[in-house]
Amino acid sequence: MPGTFDRTRGRALTREVSPEFVEAVSDFFNTRAPDYDAARGAQEAYFAALRAHGTDVVTLPALSGHPDCSFTEDVAVIIDDKAVIPNLGHPSRDGEQDTIAEFLADDFEIHRMPAGATLDGGDVVFYDDRFLVGVSTRTNRGGADFLAGHAKQAGIGTQIFEVPDTTLHLTTVCSSPRPGTMVAAQGHLKPEDLAFAEEVIWVPNEEGYAANTIAYGDRIIIADGYPKARRLMLDAGFSITTVDMTEFREVDASLTCLSVFIG
Ligand code: GLY
Repeated sequence: MPGTFDRTRGRALTREVSPEFVEAVSDFFNTRAPDYDAARGAQEAYFAALRAHGTDVVTLPALSGHPDCSFTEDVAVIIDDKAVIPNLGHPSRDGEQDTIAEFLADDFEIHRMPAGATLDGGDVVFYDDRFLVGVSTRTNRGGADFLAGHAKQAGIGTQIFEVPDTTLHLTTVCSSPRPGTMVAAQGHLKPEDLAFAEEVIWVPNEEGYAANTIAYGDRIIIADGYPKARRLMLDAGFSITTVDMTEFREVDASLTCLSVFIG
């Protein structure tokens, strides 16, 4: 429907975990060096979970010199038949865009951001009639405005957030699993930030990592190991699949980081 974000998850663009994964940027959750083999295994389980919900998973090879290359969510924002390809907000990630843009060019009109504007797709949450865009250490106002311009052309609004310094990306602390509903981590966003939502499921701060969800109607994928969040989702009427995200959490990445839905 024009003016409403399409929640179809028919196809996901992903990329293999980098053999240099141990060098991935990690500023928030890190407790130890991440393990490449464990991350590869977890990524396979993640792909299986997407496939089990009907998503066709396309996987590009890892990109040499880019330890964070498996986090494709950051590298493209799809708006109808356009793909907005941002300038990524961390210097080590610059250069991940070209192969993604090349792949998407078969099906989408490619729009690259002007120099100076930056945005990570991880700062973009899709909610019904609007994009929630976080201005953060990765996404600047120019990047948010560039995306908002493209959204507006598609009849989709934009609401800008200041991402608190307690978190990397907006998607790290909230998601919209179904129309009208937000899931959010306590201690990061304020209730007034989410006043537009008909329903907000607040996840306790200590389990805030589980506020990042991927949903298919009333079926939801969440990170494994968050029992309070799981209970809240069950009570809200979701059936649940969990994926072990331990290795990805070590490098500040959540479920949604590992894919960009492209149809
Ligand atoms: N390690 C995820 C990121 O920094 O983008």
